[in-house]
Amino acid sequence: MHILLLGSGGREHALAWKIAASPLVIKLWCAPGNAGIAREAECVALDIADHAAVIDFCRTNAVDFVVVGPDAPIAAGIVDDLNAAGFKAFGPTKAAGRLESSKKFTKALCRAQHIPTAQYEHFTDRESAKAYIRKHGAPIVVKADGLAAGKGVVVAMTNDEALAAIDMMFAGGLGEAGAEVVIEEFMQGEEASFFVLCDGEHALPLATAQDHKRAFDGDKGPNTGGMGAYSPAPVLTEAMCARVMDEMIKPTLRALSAMGSPYKGVLYAGVMVTKDGPKLVEYNARFGDPECQVLMLRMMSDILPALIACADGQLKNFSLRWYDDAALTVIMATRGYPGDYGKGSVIGGLDEAAKVDGVEIFHAGTVAKDGHILANGGRVLNVCATGKTVTEAQRRAYAAVDRIKWPEGFCRRDIGWQAVQREAG
Ligand code: AMP
Ligand code: GLY
Repeated sequence: MHILLLGSGGREHALAWKIAASPLVIKLWCAPGNAGIAREAECVALDIADHAAVIDFCRTNAVDFVVVGPDAPIAAGIVDDLNAAGFKAFGPTKAAGRLESSKKFTKALCRAQHIPTAQYEHFTDRESAKAYIRKHGAPIVVKADGLAAGKGVVVAMTNDEALAAIDMMFAGGLGEAGAEVVIEEFMQGEEASFFVLCDGEHALPLATAQDHKRAFDGDKGPNTGGMGAYSPAPVLTEAMCARVMDEMIKPTLRALSAMGSPYKGVLYAGVMVTKDGPKLVEYNARFGDPECQVLMLRMMSDILPALIACADGQLKNFSLRWYDDAALTVIMATRGYPGDYGKGSVIGGLDEAAKVDGVEIFHAGTVAKDGHILANGGRVLNVCATGKTVTEAQRRAYAAVDRIKWPEGFCRRDIGWQAVQREAG
């Protein structure tokens, strides 16, 4: 088969690595890709926001199947446009993708289907939003309705913080995304991610993971796209996963199907395990980054037939095999991230690092130039490892990190701490 993968991050490197291993693949392209993805696929300089250009590429190269990595093209309706042009793609339509692109849509769906989640109200004007905050009081969570590149959520521990977030959003601090806000109850618990493949009707659970959103050790510092992850997440026990399937995923798929926009693709549920059971924090309409990297390392089966089965509505009776080993990834980012950072610093020691037992290095923001790998983004490398336990995977990943020569980079040193603490008893 001729496959085109869209995206350029660590998630897409992991997907490219896994897809490239499929015996079904004759040719794999990735647009736009990065220096690491170039090992698995032919990178093509396509602007993936230009749907006509993507369709043109598919026609010229007889592409059989397109795999969409990131959220932006899904929200922009790339899958709708590909389907309309006669191309099969992995990912939800724009309407089904509202589970991620509109918090208001998801909260209303949860309310209608009695899906456990934080209580909320939705506001389009500043004064009523503030009145609600004053009435309910902190801790309270303020969210921009639309996609805001991970910056749209303020978990406010004081009323002043919450009121300032309202001012920021209504003053246009997040652009269009903040023109409407959702204010919700603060949920106390341990957070984890649950992934399922969906074919519009059926759902096939993948695996669980936990990521580390804060920039610095001890879960301190600003929120980021994710500084590391591991799988499985012990807090999502088998019983808890069964509840997530029954109480969240299945009613969500039924509701979308009834609306005429069946959900196909991967559905990523952010779950808070509270003392009252699992509650939905949010849905994403794509694989998590960096959670995808650890899932791909643990998946034994060929992924490609499963992705195609999602698009074809053929997931029923499908199963996937997994390695029992745990997997963990440490993100190396350019100093300054998630704020301003420089580009173009040279990264050394990658080959030495990759020799550590059980280690796989995925690239996020890199370019190759004159025989060197250069940093080209905020999150730059995903140093991943598998092991019998999270503790072993963590030891291997940091052994590899220590071989990487990149003074302009930084990483957290405590990725996986929740699981490591549990494993230590
Ligand atoms: P979201 O973009 O909705 O995932 O929110 C980003 C992060 O904010 C989540 O991963 C949680 O850690 C936190 N968060 C969001 N909503 C809540 C909530 N209602 N209660 C507590 N924490 C939350
Ligand atoms: N790692 C969080 C996300 O992909 O949204």
